[in-house]
Amino acid sequence: MSKNPIFCAIDTSSIDKAIELINQISPYVGGVKLGLEFFTSCGINGIEKVSKCELPLFLDLKFYDIPNTVKNSLKNILSFNPQYTTLHVSGGADMLNKCVEIKEDLHSTTKLIGVTMLTSFNDKTINEIGLGGSINQNVDNLSKLAFNCGMDGIVCSPLEIKKVKNTYGSKLKIVVPGIRDNTIKIDDQKRTLSAKKAIELGADVIVIGRPITSAESPASSAEMFYQSIQ
Ligand code: C5P
Repeated sequence: MSKNPIFCAIDTSSIDKAIELINQISPYVGGVKLGLEFFTSCGINGIEKVSKCELPLFLDLKFYDIPNTVKNSLKNILSFNPQYTTLHVSGGADMLNKCVEIKEDLHSTTKLIGVTMLTSFNDKTINEIGLGGSINQNVDNLSKLAFNCGMDGIVCSPLEIKKVKNTYGSKLKIVVPGIRDNTIKIDDQKRTLSAKKAIELGADVIVIGRPITSAESPASSAEMFYQSIQ
């Protein structure tokens, strides 16, 4: 494996805690992911500080709004030059097309990743939001939309990797959260598999948060995940 595919989700509200965690785990991860919890407490200043750690950055703000608002917000995010950033595919073709357009206009190398179905949903709970069909069918539809709009990749759970990989090969990057071994608690995730299995199925990036960040030794846990995929 040439590049380490593990991105650790640094879901904390404290810059100091984030930097401390990153320093501990940096030998064992390929990058760090900052999401809504970090951004809503530490803001742009926090992103700038983490950028100085020089690990590839994944800014996971999961934009979902009208096309013009998302396009202009994305433009701000691209100025940090993250390796990956996320939009909800369910924002629709117009929103996705505008995002791809602004990325191209700015000659940005950031990969635009479309969130399909959150890994905290399962077939029972998607009814709550009025979606028909199974998770699999919805992931299929949303992956197709992302691909047709020129997105670089999608987020899905480990359980959908095989189908997406068979359909798009290397034309869509597959980013996979919901990484849990049998031995650890699954928290609010509902569609999970181990890191090793997710990589074997074809994930390009695996996102691991609490199993590393809440471990007694985040460094040992990150190292264990790294060893498990060698
Ligand atoms: O702690 P845990 O490993 O469950 O963290 C998973 C991370 O991946 C969180 O930061 C969460 O926001 C993110 N994520 C997810 N499901 C998606 C997209 C992103 O869990 N569909």
